[in-house]
Amino acid sequence: MKKTVTICFTNNKGGSGKSTTCGNLGAALAGAGKKVLLVDGDMQLNLSLSFFNEEEVLEMAESSRNLYYAAAEQQDALPFAVPTRIENVDLIPSSMRMSLIERQLAEAPLPRGRRRELVLSDCLTSARNSGKYDYILIDAPPTLGLWVMNILCASDYVVIPVEASPWGMFGLANMLDFLNEAREISPSTEMMGIVVTKADVRKGYFKQTMETLRELDGIYVFQSFIRVDSNIEWAQDVSSPVVAFKKSSRSAKEYIEFAKEVEKRAGR
Ligand SMILES: Nc1ncnc2c1ncn2[C@@H]1O[C@H](COP(=O)(O)OP(=O)(O)OP(=O)(O)O)[C@@H](O)[C@H]1O
Ligand SMILES: [Mg+2]
Repeated sequence: MKKTVTICFTNNKGGSGKSTTCGNLGAALAGAGKKVLLVDGDMQLNLSLSFFNEEEVLEMAESSRNLYYAAAEQQDALPFAVPTRIENVDLIPSSMRMSLIERQLAEAPLPRGRRRELVLSDCLTSARNSGKYDYILIDAPPTLGLWVMNILCASDYVVIPVEASPWGMFGLANMLDFLNEAREISPSTEMMGIVVTKADVRKGYFKQTMETLRELDGIYVFQSFIRVDSNIEWAQDVSSPVVAFKKSSRSAKEYIEFAKEVEKRAGR
C-alpha cells in the first residue's frame, strides 16, 4: 500500500482558483482510479458546494459533523467524511463556524508538547493512515494565519493556484514567506508548484504572468495551465466538478492533464 499523499491549495489572493482546482483535481484523480478525500477548510464552503447542493451543504455545515468540529475539539476528522456522487471521492465538509477557528486554535488547551500549528495534522492522522485514500486534498481560505499554517503543516505538498491577471501575483511573496515559516515547523511540507488558472492565452498578461513565474528561483510552474472556461461556472451551478459535468470541455481536459502532472510530481 502506497503512502497517502496530502496536498493543499493555498494563496492569500482571493479568487485565484483554489477551490475549483482542488475539486477538479480530486475528480480527475478519481477518474484515473485513485481514491480521494477532499477536505473543505474554508468557511465559504465552496469545495463542499462543488459536490453537494446548497441545502445539503448547509445541513452538513450546521451539524456537528464537519471539519470545524474536528479541529475545534481536536477530534479525528475521518468519521466526518461523506461519499460524494463521484465514485472514489469522499469529502469532509466545512462550516460557517470556521470563522471562529483562528481564535479557537489560539486559545485551545493542548496536550503537553503539542504545537497549535499541528492540530489539523493530528485530526487527519487516521485518514492518512487508514489506507482508504491515495490522496487527501485540502482547500484553504484566502488568508495567512494560524489556520492556514495548520493546513500547510498537515500537507506533504503545497500547490499555489495563481490567476493570470494583473493582480494575480500580488501577495505571492507573502505566501511563499509564509510557506517557509510552515516548513520550519513541518520540514516535510514541500512546495509542489504554481498552477496558472483562468488563463486567456490571447491576452498579453497571460504571457507576462507565465514569464514572471518561470523566473522565480527554485519554484516549479506546472506545464499545464487552466484556461478561462464558462463550463466551470455551469458545472459549479449544478454542484459538479467540470470533469464530471462535461468531460469533453477544454477545462475538463486541462484538469485531467494537470492531474497527470501532479501524480508525476508526487512520485506516483
Ligand atoms: N478556469 C476558469 N474559468 C472560468 N471561471 C473560473 C475558472 N476557475 C475559476 N473560475 C471562477 O472564478 C471564481 C474563483 O474561483 P475559486 O472559487 O476556485 O477561487 P478561490 O481561490 O477558491 O477563491 P477564494 O479565495 O474566495 O477561496 C469562481 O467564481 C469560479 O467559478
Ligand atoms: Mg476557495
